[in-house]
Amino acid sequence: MSTAGPGRDVPEAQIAVHWREEEYYYPPARFIGQANASDPGILRRFGEENFPECFREYADLLDWDAYWHTTLDTGNPPFWKWFVGGRLNACRNCVDRHLPTSRDKAAFIWVPEPETEPPRVLTYQELYVQVNEFAALLRDFCGIQQGDRVTFHMPMVPELPVCMLACARLGVVHSEVFGGFSGMACGDRLADSGSRVLVTMDGYHRAGKLSDHKAKADEAVQVADKLGQQVDKVLVWRRHPGQYVSQTPMVEGRDFFVDDLLPGYRGRRVEPESMPAEAPLFLMYSSGTTGRPKGAQHRTGGYLSYVAGTAKYYLDIHPEDTYWCAADIGWITGHSYIVYGPLALGTTSVLYEGAPTHPDAGRCWRIAERLGVNIFHTAPTTIRLLRKLGPDEPAKYDYHFKHLTTVGEPIEPEVWRWYHEAVGKGEAVIDDTWWLTETGGFLGATLPALQPMKPGSCGPGVLGIYPVIYDDEGNTVEPGSGRAGNVCIRNPWPSVLQTIWGQPERFVELYYGKYCRDRQSTDWRDWPFLCGDGAVQAADGYLRILGRIDDVINVAGHRLGTKELESACLTVAEVAEAAAVPVVDELRGRVVEMYVALNPGLEPGGELETKVARAVERQIGPIARPKKVWIVPDMPKTRSGKIMRRVIAGISNFADVGDTSTLANPEVVDAIRHLVQSRK
Ligand code: WT7
Repeated sequence: MSTAGPGRDVPEAQIAVHWREEEYYYPPARFIGQANASDPGILRRFGEENFPECFREYADLLDWDAYWHTTLDTGNPPFWKWFVGGRLNACRNCVDRHLPTSRDKAAFIWVPEPETEPPRVLTYQELYVQVNEFAALLRDFCGIQQGDRVTFHMPMVPELPVCMLACARLGVVHSEVFGGFSGMACGDRLADSGSRVLVTMDGYHRAGKLSDHKAKADEAVQVADKLGQQVDKVLVWRRHPGQYVSQTPMVEGRDFFVDDLLPGYRGRRVEPESMPAEAPLFLMYSSGTTGRPKGAQHRTGGYLSYVAGTAKYYLDIHPEDTYWCAADIGWITGHSYIVYGPLALGTTSVLYEGAPTHPDAGRCWRIAERLGVNIFHTAPTTIRLLRKLGPDEPAKYDYHFKHLTTVGEPIEPEVWRWYHEAVGKGEAVIDDTWWLTETGGFLGATLPALQPMKPGSCGPGVLGIYPVIYDDEGNTVEPGSGRAGNVCIRNPWPSVLQTIWGQPERFVELYYGKYCRDRQSTDWRDWPFLCGDGAVQAADGYLRILGRIDDVINVAGHRLGTKELESACLTVAEVAEAAAVPVVDELRGRVVEMYVALNPGLEPGGELETKVARAVERQIGPIARPKKVWIVPDMPKTRSGKIMRRVIAGISNFADVGDTSTLANPEVVDAIRHLVQSRK
């Protein structure tokens, strides 16, 4: 039986979730023998008594131009400062420093779509050359300087990490907007970040279709312009240099083909800027509760240290491994665990274009076999899909994973077991990694050689992270009590967001407002970080994450704000009110259904449902397209006029709608139930 997901009115944590407590699974001896963290002493080194100095161990994985004098400065809470006094360059740490030993080693192996196109190898030397040339172009052609922001709207091509590293080299803050997002979403983020330059691509392939991506750039620039941000230059990479695959005209004086410009920068070298540890490295926008986009601002030294350290110990990457994180670089997972963490460790990573099920459900396993991938990182939604479409596919391929990881949403124990047995062939360790855009890196996971796996739980807090569960009043919910509450992190850590770009008050309120004990206090113990998830902690400290408690719906690992979805519906003239609710879905975990009420006097009909769905897709992107749009006579509301999403979600999921006695219009509940349940 399905259960209702989170809505504004009901923390998902409070909904009964029936989950079997599973037995433990232990890593194979072969894995333990080779693991980066196989000595339990590491758990002691990262014990609370060694906080914050324990994080030196991560920072020491990097090359610093100047060593820091203060590991953690808590003087201006909760604007924590890490490795103060230290200077470094992220690009130099990810590229230049590997050249003496690993010049000819592959940094990326890119697998394009279609599969008939051969993989392309980018060595560390080649990455170095391309990053330098593009950095020179940004600086000299676009006039971009240290501290400026540059927005990218790029698909999964090696040019994207080149752009990111070029910015990092110059001390420029990059902001990549997920390629699947609409031109409008990109425009909002361009404006919010104050970017004068947009970097995009003409088109790309996904599941057999060529997408005209440049069209979105034109819309993005217009949207930004309306919001008061002028974009002077649009740099357009061509998917096939010299051959333009978009139907959209280039705008004279504004749009430039990167492959036309680059020859002017051939062989150019740009010195990496020595940046303060606290200098912002990038922004990553995520959905928020209200209209203005929320740009999580990540710092240079703390972030890079943390993603390098966690990639080393949790992804267990060794120099000789071939690692593949099948996420999109447009999300934080890709930033931390495709680009920055793995490159800081000098890893060979696979990048791929397209979809995991195209041309068939064997694509991932063919890639793993062909390239000798031995560590694979993906999301539960992909695992569910591959399990459904090709349960026996993995057996057909000769690959050997030692380590499999998942991220983005809870993984059901049945799905976990298929991942372990069919995909991992019983040889691999599974790591369920829980974290969020704002946290920069993992929060909950198992140290793969030292802590057993437990399907359905991500594991305890990772090294140096001390989670706690609070009830709404701020009382601690004891591990093993079986009660759910709001999971918080008691301590600061090096990759926690610095702030929300341009909105410091919102930053303080959103993450610290609820449980801060004393706003004057400079003791970090008074400032627990609110993650926004409901969770249950078992007696062994393992966390079972139940889902978001705020106005966010997690669809296949992508966070969508209910407000954003609803605002998109209201752009349709006929729509008076809208409510977005999550509905349980076998493959995607959760999907969105939209409930809309029309303006007085209007009747349903004339393909209005399609119009609403299209509006959402246009405003946000195809991932947000509602699975279903229901036109209802009215919304269930409180007496103060607040739409009760919880009630609608209950109906939609055939679950309990809870108490409806406080509604202003209780009769509408039956009307909606009749309409919806008779048609599902
Ligand atoms: C939300 C954050 C951080 C990378 C991907 C998503 C959910 C994430 C897990 C997991 C259960 C998970 C949480 C979290 N989530 N990983 N392993 N188990 N839930 O980043 O878009 O910022 O979303 O994703 O609800 O709050 P994001």
